[in-house]
Amino acid sequence: MATNKPACAWAPLVVVVAALCAATATATAATTISETWDVEYIMWAPDCQQRVMIGINGRFPGPNITARAGDVINVTVNNKMHTEGVVIHWHGIRQFGTPWADGTASISQCAINPGETFVYSFVADKPGTYFYHGHFGMQRAAGLYGSLIIEGSPEHPEPFRHQYDGGELPVLLLSDWWHQNVYAQAAGLDSKDRHFQWIGEPQTILINGRGQFECTLGPARWNLEKTIDKNIQTCVDNQGSCKDEERCLRRSECGPYCPKSQCAAVVLDVRQGKTYRLRIASTTSLSALNVKIQGHKMTVVEADGNHVEPFVVDDIDVYSGESYSVLLKADQRATAYWISVGVRGRHPKTLPALAILNYTDAPPSSLRWRTEPPVTPAWDDIQRSKNFTYRIKARSDTNEPPPAAADRQIVLLNTQNLMNGHYKWSINNVSLSLPTTPYLGAFRHGLQHSAFDTSGEPPATFPEDYNVMVPPVNNATTVSSRVFMLKHGSVVDVVLQNANMLKEQVSETHPWHLHGHDFWVLGYGDGRYDPLKHEATLNTVDPPLRNTAVVFPHGWTVLRFIANNTGAWAFHCHIEPHLHMGMGVIFIEGEDKIRELDVPKEAVACGLVARTVAVPLTPATPKAPSPAP
Ligand code: C2O
Ligand code: CU
Repeated sequence: MATNKPACAWAPLVVVVAALCAATATATAATTISETWDVEYIMWAPDCQQRVMIGINGRFPGPNITARAGDVINVTVNNKMHTEGVVIHWHGIRQFGTPWADGTASISQCAINPGETFVYSFVADKPGTYFYHGHFGMQRAAGLYGSLIIEGSPEHPEPFRHQYDGGELPVLLLSDWWHQNVYAQAAGLDSKDRHFQWIGEPQTILINGRGQFECTLGPARWNLEKTIDKNIQTCVDNQGSCKDEERCLRRSECGPYCPKSQCAAVVLDVRQGKTYRLRIASTTSLSALNVKIQGHKMTVVEADGNHVEPFVVDDIDVYSGESYSVLLKADQRATAYWISVGVRGRHPKTLPALAILNYTDAPPSSLRWRTEPPVTPAWDDIQRSKNFTYRIKARSDTNEPPPAAADRQIVLLNTQNLMNGHYKWSINNVSLSLPTTPYLGAFRHGLQHSAFDTSGEPPATFPEDYNVMVPPVNNATTVSSRVFMLKHGSVVDVVLQNANMLKEQVSETHPWHLHGHDFWVLGYGDGRYDPLKHEATLNTVDPPLRNTAVVFPHGWTVLRFIANNTGAWAFHCHIEPHLHMGMGVIFIEGEDKIRELDVPKEAVACGLVARTVAVPLTPATPKAPSPAP
């Protein structure tokens, strides 16, 4: 994997070195990171059991991309899967000027057909912790993801850059894994009436694509949240059987203790007394997770590529679509410590994943196998999750507060519905179904009226008398491809309103992710949002900027963003099966400006565009990022 990192991250004070660095510094804007990826089916054993997955260049997870703010990232994707299209979304990258590179099938581009190639080219617009993943069908859950790290630069410095003398630890990219393949999962979700099959809880939680199915690296006597209905076993140490290294690598037969096996634990090496930056991101299909490091506290400094006012925690909740950076001081006795990653928010049936924080100045110790891994907070302690989430505020010295008022407000009621025997998630009773012609191409070529339903916007509110505390009573759910049309530059407020599911007294936490933007999270609350009561409680002083925010069970969340990014953007629940079941909306921003966009033919020449327009072959180039959030 090419990372092309310039040698001089920061121009040091030493004159000689500064001179050497000058060339790099001036060249910053021009640096281009180029990658060529073959996306293909691979046999892999992420949790020591071999399955078919979607890999990149023969591996899972995909390569880690590291760039510096201002760099151009070029990724040539060859679809080597014989029977399905593919797209790759760069989660957290706002794509100013390059909406066609957002990687959302049916929204920003046509799926790349089997045997075809597509080049993503975009600017790494600001430092932060990001990732990429498939955004067609349920390909993310099939393993199509990897991390994307954007480092600070002299033009885009990070205010906490001098606070970690130990450097950066490898990013922890968290995910969850099912043994049933995603085609079966999707078929189950799509089936009618009693044929419907929910995907259930994952078999294994993965850290950087590694986990251990049905066994724990820690001691078996470990009291794993008694609630987990499993006979917990210690993974068998088959290290001795790892003689045939090549076979071990290929089949992971020797289990998690062979350092070369595909399911070996992730080890983070630290030196006593040093402070490190640890990046944590979650691309889970379903699970909300909590990360706890034995004996260590963490200081949260970044969330979704934005600076947060530093605060100290014992453990950290991470929802699908979110990312954080924490500072971690190796200030304990030099030995090895467990890192536990456990499920929150849903009754877990999955063992926590474990990684190891290893003090390299300790004598090689076997201690790690004897101490008990820390237990993450109880899955149903929602108040604890709220307390953590409510503490996140914009960093005071780099805070960019939002505009004081919005031009329009969109209220989105989240409900689970039954429609003609199909289970759906709907927004104001409308479940999203995507058109064959991508929205961006349709608007670019003036074909929107034939490409999808332009009979109006979807509803932007729900009835006064709707009771969010009880199961939905009406059966009027529809599926639709309609979109919200946002005026370029307008300030938009979104109220996410959670509600009760079909089952009595159940409401879930949904992490909503917006493409093309960061938004300010103005506030959260319980019950139904009432502007008369709640508007005054919203935080317009130092709300955090993020690209993902949760709406808690039976609660509401208010977001604000500026519609200053021409394009077609998805806003959806980041839980893969929920999106599959329609839990999302589409924002079209600056309709008139889309007509003038330089969109490469390859991005949109499918569906009606391919059939009715002669599209010129104009290669589009990424433009400099806009300064506004
Ligand atoms: Cu990471 Cu549309 O999602
Ligand atoms: Cu959801």
